[in-house]
Amino acid sequence: MAKTLFEISFSFTIFSIFISQCLILAIYGKQDVFGQRLSPTKHGLKKEKLTHFKVYWHDVLGGPKPTAVIVVNPPNSTLNGGFGSVTMTDNALTMRPELNSKLVGRSQGFYALASQTEVGLLMAMNFAIMEGKYNGSTISILGRNTVFSKVREMPIIGGSGLFRFARGYVQARTHSLDINSGDACVEYNVYVMHY
Ligand SMILES: *[C@@H]1O[C@H](CO)[C@@H](O)[C@H](O)[C@H]1NC(C)=O
Ligand SMILES: *[C@@H]1O[C@H](CO)[C@@H](O)[C@H](O)[C@H]1NC(C)=O
Repeated sequence: MAKTLFEISFSFTIFSIFISQCLILAIYGKQDVFGQRLSPTKHGLKKEKLTHFKVYWHDVLGGPKPTAVIVVNPPNSTLNGGFGSVTMTDNALTMRPELNSKLVGRSQGFYALASQTEVGLLMAMNFAIMEGKYNGSTISILGRNTVFSKVREMPIIGGSGLFRFARGYVQARTHSLDINSGDACVEYNVYVMHY
């Protein structure tokens, strides 16, 4: 059955409305989208890599230039082993155990005495790397540190710059500890997955 002129012009009108709606969506639609799917490779995320760093972390509490400062001293701290104490740090990260060896970054953050039964720290710190191509990139670490254990493992929960989408872990081993001043040098082995 042949279509009437009315039917043809009606379909054409519907078609025109559809096309103009598509155009409007194409031109203005983007502004209304919340959350957009991106291609990881086009965004520069090509291949995930595993990198290992060994650094020495210097906790200097005493002397004329401390880099670790107790900012919260809980009441009756001797009764419960200092539980609740918070120390803010801007500690040097060096290549070798000596404090005057090559500086490769700083560990900025805090640690808090979070256990009432042992020396167990909550650590929250950013390793701000200053060396080579990693200069300006950061690795964020959050974890539990029972400082008198031989090896303490803490998760890497993220990063910035070359360490975007970072995940991994660090292993901390005490290299030296001065009981009187509290100064410590800790070896950190960092295992980080990143792009
Ligand atoms: C500190 O401990 C003493 C002795 O147990 C107690 O009398 C006092 O109330 C405690 N002070 C605080 C601030 O908790
Ligand atoms: C790291 O970057 C800072 C800021 O861009 C620069 O001043 C510094 O010299 C760089 N350090 C190294 C070791 O490349």
